Parts: sequence; C-alpha cells; structure tokens
Amino acid sequence: MPLACNALQKSKSAMAIISSASTKLTWILAPLLVLATATIRVHGQPPSTSGFISLDCGNRNTTPYTDSSIRGIQHQSDVGFVEGGLTHQIAAVYMAGAPYESQKTLRSFPNGSRNCYTLPSTPGKKLVRALFTYGDYDGLNRTMDGSPFLFGLHIGANFWEAVNLTSWDPSSTIWKEVLTVAPGGSVSVCLINFGTGTPFVSALELRPLQDSMYPFVNSSVSISYFRRIRFGQATDFITRYPLDPYDRFWEGWSFSYNTYPWMTLNTSSPVRRLPGDNTFQVPEGILQQASTLDTNYSFFEINVAVGPNLDAKNLQLLPIFHFAEINISNQNRRFDIYSDNDLLFPDFSPSRFQADSMHENGQFLHNPTATFLLNKTRSSRLPPLINAFEVYSLVRMDNLTTDADDVNYMKEVKKHYNLARINWNGDPCSPREYSWEGLTCDYSKRNQNPRIVAVDLSTSGLKGGLVISFMNMASLENLDLSHNNLTGAIPDYQIKSLKVLDLSYNQLDGPIPDSILQRSQAGLLDLRF
Ligand SMILES: *[C@@H]1O[C@H](CO)[C@@H](O)[C@H](O)[C@H]1NC(C)=O
Ligand SMILES: *[C@@H]1O[C@H](CO)[C@@H](O)[C@H](O)[C@H]1NC(C)=O
Ligand SMILES: *[C@@H]1O[C@H](CO)[C@@H](O)[C@H](O)[C@H]1NC(C)=O
Ligand SMILES: *[C@@H]1O[C@H](CO)[C@@H](O)[C@H](O)[C@H]1NC(C)=O
Ligand SMILES: *[C@@H]1O[C@H](CO)[C@@H](O)[C@H](O)[C@H]1NC(C)=O
Ligand SMILES: *[C@@H]1O[C@H](CO)[C@@H](O)[C@H](O)[C@H]1NC(C)=O
Ligand SMILES: *[C@@H]1O[C@H](CO)[C@@H](O)[C@H](O)[C@H]1NC(C)=O
Repeated sequence: MPLACNALQKSKSAMAIISSASTKLTWILAPLLVLATATIRVHGQPPSTSGFISLDCGNRNTTPYTDSSIRGIQHQSDVGFVEGGLTHQIAAVYMAGAPYESQKTLRSFPNGSRNCYTLPSTPGKKLVRALFTYGDYDGLNRTMDGSPFLFGLHIGANFWEAVNLTSWDPSSTIWKEVLTVAPGGSVSVCLINFGTGTPFVSALELRPLQDSMYPFVNSSVSISYFRRIRFGQATDFITRYPLDPYDRFWEGWSFSYNTYPWMTLNTSSPVRRLPGDNTFQVPEGILQQASTLDTNYSFFEINVAVGPNLDAKNLQLLPIFHFAEINISNQNRRFDIYSDNDLLFPDFSPSRFQADSMHENGQFLHNPTATFLLNKTRSSRLPPLINAFEVYSLVRMDNLTTDADDVNYMKEVKKHYNLARINWNGDPCSPREYSWEGLTCDYSKRNQNPRIVAVDLSTSGLKGGLVISFMNMASLENLDLSHNNLTGAIPDYQIKSLKVLDLSYNQLDGPIPDSILQRSQAGLLDLRF
C-alpha cells in the first residue's frame, strides 16, 4: 500500500490507508516458515489451550491433529457439530498456498436458508472466529464471475456480519471474529443463505476470554472484529497464539508501512500492566514495540476503511488504543486522539514502560470514514506513538434465544422421530423469520425468551410411540400429531398447558389416560382422537 505523505503542509502528516479489512492470509506463509523459531519466544510451557475449540470444517478425517504453523492447538473435524452440508476440498492449485491446514477443506450449505453449528462452551465471554477460503472448491470460479457472492453470519439468534466474496481472490482467506457472551452450554454460529451464492465455512474457532476482559461486552452487546493491529516491527503477518494466550489475531502494521517517515521503536525492558488491569491483556511482546514518526512529522492517521467486506458507513465503531512509552530518552510526548473530527482523548501522554489502553467504555462512535488521528500537541517534543490498536463494530444481541427447556424438549422430539426437516436447525423461534416450520412461538414478553406455544407435526411420517417430551413443554397449548403412524398407548402424564391435542388418524390404542380425560371432560382440553 502506498504511503502518502503531505509534505507541503506546515504540520506534516503520515497518512496510512489500510485498504481492506479482511486481509490475505496467504501472505503469511513465507514469513511464518522462516520466523517461527525466531519470533515465538515461549518461556517454559505455552499458555493453556483449555476450552479452545478449533474445527476444520469439511475434513472427513475425524482424528484430531495439530497444525505445524500454529503450535500447540489441536484441530478436529466438524463432524458432530453441524447437521447437513457437503464436504469439499479447495482446488489443487491453491492447496500449496493455504495458510493453515484447516483452509484446505470446507463445508458448503446448498440447502436451507440457515445452517447452524453448535459449539459446546461454558457460559461467559468468548472469542468466536470463522475463516473462509473459497479456493474454487466447486470449480465455478464463483468469486470472480462478476455476480454478487454474499452470505450472512448469525451469532446465536442475532445477525453478526455479512461475508462478501464478490471479486475476491479465490486463494485469499477472510476471517470474521466476534467477542460475545455465551449464554449457556453452547454457542451457535449460523450461515445464512441470501440467495447470492452458496454459504460455506472453512474453519470455526472458539477461545475462552476472561470475564474481566472487554467489559462493554455483555449479554446484549457483542463486538465484531473490524481491525486489530500491532505496530512496530512485527515479524509475522499475523501474531496469534502462543504470544497471545487468547489467540486473538493481530495484524502486523509494518507489513504495509515500513518506510519513512514511519519509525519503529522496540525494547526488551518489561512493559507492565497496572495491578488489577485485566481489561485487554495485550501481550507484553506486542507492547514492547511501537511505531512513531520522524520528529519533523507531527501527526498520523489510522484509516481502517474498508475493503469489499465491510461497509463503515452504517457501522458503529469502538476503538481501543494501546500505548506504552518505550523510548528511553525522557523527552515529553503528548498528543490528541481524534475519531474522525471528534476529539476523543485530549493531551494524552503515554506512561513509561506501562500499558495504557484508551477507550470510551462501551461508547460506539459513528465514524463513516473509519479514520483516527493522533496529533502532537503544541507543547510536545516528540510526535505521537502507538503500540497496538483494536477497533470493533457493534453487534446488537436483541433477539433472545428460545427458552432453554423448550429447546431441549424440541431437540428430543427431533431426535426421537429422526426428523430430517431442513429448517429445523439453530434456535427454534429466533430470529422470527428462521423459526422452525410447524412451530408457533410466543414473543410477546419482550424481555423474556420466546416460548413454543404450538407444534404442528401432522402428516410428518411420525412412527412409534408418543414421546413424552411434548407433555413437558410448559407453554405448549396446541399439539397436532394427526395423520401419522403413531402406535402404542397414550402415556399417562400430567399435561400442563395443553388446550388442543389432535391425535386423530394414527394407530394409537389403549384407554385414554385419566390425566388427559379429566382435562378434556372439564372443558380445558379439546381432544381429537
Ligand atoms: C475466473 O474468472 C475471471 C474473470 O472472468 C477470469 O479472469 C479468470 O481467468 C477465471 N479463472 C479461471 C480459473 O477460470
Ligand atoms: C432480530 O429479529 C428480527 C425479527 O426476526 C430481525 O428483523 C432483526 O434483524 C434481528 N436482530 C438482529 C440483531 O439480528
Ligand atoms: C527532517 O529533519 C531533518 C533534520 O532534523 C532533516 O535532515 C530532514 O531532511 C527532514 N526531513 C524532511 C522530509 O523534511
Ligand atoms: C461486496 O463486494 C463488492 C466488491 O468489492 C462490492 O462491489 C459490493 O458493494 C459489496 N456488497 C456489499 C453488500 O457490501
Ligand atoms: C450492556 O452494555 C451496554 C453498554 O455497553 C449497556 O447499555 C447495557 O445496559 C448492557 N446490558 C446488560 C444486559 O448489561
Ligand atoms: C494538530 O495540532 C496542531 C496544534 O498543535 C493544530 O494546529 C493542527 O490543526 C492539528 N491538526 C489537525 C489535523 O487537527
Ligand atoms: C402408515 O404405515 C402404513 C404401512 O406401514 C402405510 O401404508 C400408511 O400410509 C402409513 N400412514 C401414514 C398416515 O403415514
């Protein structure tokens, strides 16, 4: 990327234009091989990978493996984490350039408008990342054929982001990341078919975060990765685990901007966090490097707009600037930090060998150009410096998932009758337009999880006994199981809320149990038999 310097202005600037928010992972192959030994300084044991899930989607070999370019992380096939889909390999010409082993296979979803993965998880904050390498797996040259190639992602029951592969180099990898709160024992990631190309995914990763981290992330607010950059002289195009124990992806700025007037600083002295400051946990190895400008320059801009994959205009952005003064000379360095034209942090001075993370807690900014300016103040001797930068966009988690008991009972029903319904996938009620066919949900209590109030499984080829899961659903009012091949007796079970029970046109036999008969005789239940 060209570095544009406006040398005619009185205060000189270094303009940095980062073109695309989803970068070519293929670049990293060469530096990774060369530098793996030089850069990953592991003192003793690498950090724990407990709770890491790394799915290699479309890999039919179910034996877990470790990838030589990402030390210490186990990868496994996605079999068992998703229903449906087709497995593929990228085209042979792209195999050798695949940055990670997991990018060589993928799973596509030609059928269904929503297909969901369920990642087991503990409750709490997680990083979820999805990677996409098209690699012309279908031989259709689909990213380059001129037509839109776009599909969507949901995190749980909420829209996360679109994946736009239109005119995208087929060998390049896009990744999307979201920091989110896992509500219960799992996190679901869904691929949404917009009718503009078959959704697919190459890899899915889940990493636990500490609950003290990213305090503005909560059950109603998630944040989607827009850009995460480390400054100074990074040797890897992407810095990740084990330097970052949370396996965040940090893109190396110096791969794009390493020429005058940019200058790099680095130190081997410790850069400490204040005790108790666990909010971002930027790795020390990242804080020990910084970028600044030659001293006759006074400001630089970080422009993170926006490749084909992201549209900054409608986004609400949350920037986080990480600083540590690592210049040994004791000259003063003060600068103003702007988002677009808004002064966010006036007269900031980085602390010496100590991490300062500047962010406005939970405040999302409208910044359609996605430009951030660091400008030396009049009293400062030195130009601004920066060690690392993160910027996220807001993902609202407005849509609540269906009541957990209802979900479990419906899953039992689905399993019991071996129902292969194409849209019985993901959350049963949420978001509304993807609710399971045959279900009626009650969304009326705004701050409560939707409940299932009616199930219509008439003419669905059900065979065998009547499963009691239905009887357990505390909000179910209307159950239609007519025109199936149900056999055996009706279980004697205390039904809770049922008002209509249609069992007609089956081969059920035996007496109608008292529990049901009494409700029917009392006029509480319309029994059709
Ligand atoms: C893919 O399509 C582009 C644009 O039409 C074309 O330039 C390119 O040669 C095609 N590649 C292959 C492998 O067919
Ligand atoms: C929530 O669901 C509604 C209705 O289905 C949908 O229009 C909206 O986009 C969803 N919101 C999010 C954040 O996904
Ligand atoms: C920056 O300042 C130095 C002297 O401090 C000078 O030699 C150099 O030419 C200047 N560079 C530019 C681009 O003005
Ligand atoms: C998708 O990317 C293409 C190519 O860069 C762009 O023209 C198009 O506007 C993008 N579509 C959306 C919806 O962002
Ligand atoms: C989540 O955080 C936002 C601001 O970051 C706040 O407005 C909202 O009330 C929080 N929601 C919950 C459920 O804590
Ligand atoms: C940077 O700060 C100087 C004062 O030190 C001011 O004159 C100048 O307008 C500022 N530049 C920008 C782009 O805000
Ligand atoms: C029930 O099964 C029989 C044969 O086992 C079949 O002939 C009949 O069509 C089935 N009825 C329904 C409603 O599926």
